[in-house]
Amino acid sequence: MPSREEVAYFGAGPAPLPTPVLEEGARAFVNFEDSGLSLAEISHRSPTANKILADTKAALVSLLGIPDNYDILFMHGGGSGEFSAVVYNMVAVWVEKRRRLAEKELGSDEEKILERVRREIREGLRLEYIVTGSWSLKASQEAANLLEPLKNGGKAENFVSIVTDAREWNEGKFGKIPHEDTWKMTSRGGSAFAYYCDNETVDGVEFPSFPKCLMSKDGEDDRLVVADMSSNFLSRRVDVSKYAVIYGGAQKNIGITDVTLVIVRKDILATVPSPSFLHAVGVWSPPAILNWSVIAKNNSLYNTMPIFSIWIAGQVMRSLLSTHGDTKVSGQEAVANAKAEIIYRILDENPSVYQIVPHKDVRSRMNICFRAGDAATEKEFLEGAESRTLQGLKGHRSVGGIRISNYNAVPMANVQKLAEYLKDFAQRMR
Ligand SMILES: Cc1ncc(COP(=O)(O)O)c(C=O)c1O
Repeated sequence: MPSREEVAYFGAGPAPLPTPVLEEGARAFVNFEDSGLSLAEISHRSPTANKILADTKAALVSLLGIPDNYDILFMHGGGSGEFSAVVYNMVAVWVEKRRRLAEKELGSDEEKILERVRREIREGLRLEYIVTGSWSLKASQEAANLLEPLKNGGKAENFVSIVTDAREWNEGKFGKIPHEDTWKMTSRGGSAFAYYCDNETVDGVEFPSFPKCLMSKDGEDDRLVVADMSSNFLSRRVDVSKYAVIYGGAQKNIGITDVTLVIVRKDILATVPSPSFLHAVGVWSPPAILNWSVIAKNNSLYNTMPIFSIWIAGQVMRSLLSTHGDTKVSGQEAVANAKAEIIYRILDENPSVYQIVPHKDVRSRMNICFRAGDAATEKEFLEGAESRTLQGLKGHRSVGGIRISNYNAVPMANVQKLAEYLKDFAQRMR
């Protein structure tokens, strides 16, 4: 039986965690700080739980430099839950903005306000999705599904606007981010939000930087940008102020599964229509468990939260802070880049053996996806890797191939071990 030190694990999520965090976690799971109770047993409303929430939030604020006008929520439902939450919450925000504007212009005539907002929803509501991989595609499909009842004789596609579908520019497959000049953006007023996935875990595509055309411009309506950072959270600097909402499941770079982090601008939380107005204009009111305002008002304790998972996330963040000191997340970014470069260099040096899936300018630093010839050769690659205790390298079932997940807790030593194997295998195949 191999020990933890012997196994080099590159799974795409759940992902490796730092061993000291797991060891400390094992103790906390049985007897937290000599309290005689497990962290899994204490009340989520106890002072201990409240301190864990506050400490984890403070660590995240410090790591990412989150401005004061943002709140941090801990939620259930994972990344997939947020696919739905984004739609419920952001449509409600859009409707409330329209209602306020109508009230300003039409006065207090309820019927007129209702009539106008109903018409604006029918004619103007757009949810913009930048589809660059499997997860942004899924998010857009969830939006179309949720908006179906709003069609009311119209067309659902009218609401969900696919700004770009990367497959149309890459022979039917993901692996590219189409040039922004080709994106079909909606006028800012109609857009409830523009959504993208910063790192596509399945397809190995990562945005090199914030998309220029989503930048807010002086004198124009704010374009609310929502980003899924599930698989590259805490791996590079992020200018949080460019986003309305950033979210991510914890189970890759942050901690263990069961908790979802949402960073949301406070004015979004404050732009909430009454459920009765939403119902009157034919829009659902967000379910409480996915309602960001409800979760924020309750300091993420609307219902029973997994305090143990939140504590693990806090420990991971604190260990990043203590490792990187003042450089904070930039320090981790340098490490992530260096590890990814080692792998890509070997893949690039052996193009007859390894075929990298994404285009060079959008290669993910977190999920390195490539093919190694035909299915039999890939099987041989994976078996050879297993025999060296290099694990978790199989590509996602929907696309096949090989995927090296280079998350934060993958040590440099394990990357070196894998690099040696990549070189040996290439030499054998040449
Ligand atoms: C980028 C991204 N978004 C969303 C999800 C879905 O997350 P969950 O499994 O937590 O619902 C994943 C899962 O791997 C992901 O990688």
